[in-house]
Amino acid sequence: MIKKILVIHGPNLNLLGEREPGIYGNTGIDALNSNIIDRAKKNGMECEVFQSNHEGAIIDKLHAARTSFDGVIINAGAYTHYSYAIRDAIAAIKIPVIEVHISNVFARDEFRSKSVIAPVCKGSISGFGFGSYYLAVQALAEL
Ligand code: DQA
Repeated sequence: MIKKILVIHGPNLNLLGEREPGIYGNTGIDALNSNIIDRAKKNGMECEVFQSNHEGAIIDKLHAARTSFDGVIINAGAYTHYSYAIRDAIAAIKIPVIEVHISNVFARDEFRSKSVIAPVCKGSISGFGFGSYYLAVQALAEL
């Protein structure tokens, strides 16, 4: 049973609210995080959030999560499309990892339609705005 979850936001997601608002919306990461934590609580789960612009820091956090969390939600940002190191870190840990994207990565630039992490994730959710994270919380609660 999933009791404790970790949400990882990758590069540039600290600028949510200012960054390309036509794609990512006008709301900042703090409001997103409190909504995620709220929804996790309503589903009986504790939730920690983490954001980093650095590949190695994300990998370290995934490694640490394997003994202290029951599941992970990750928006790896642009690393999604080319980081074999993050892919290997996800493959190395046994807890379920759900990939999320705010935008529909299949409806944008060609390079975004390839996710190198998708094959090692439990599943992927893309295109529902911040709702992608909330759906992932729900998915972990129901695993
Ligand atoms: C993103 C999509 C990625 O292609 C992009 O590099 C991001 C955000 C999303 O949430 O829609 O930084 O992961």
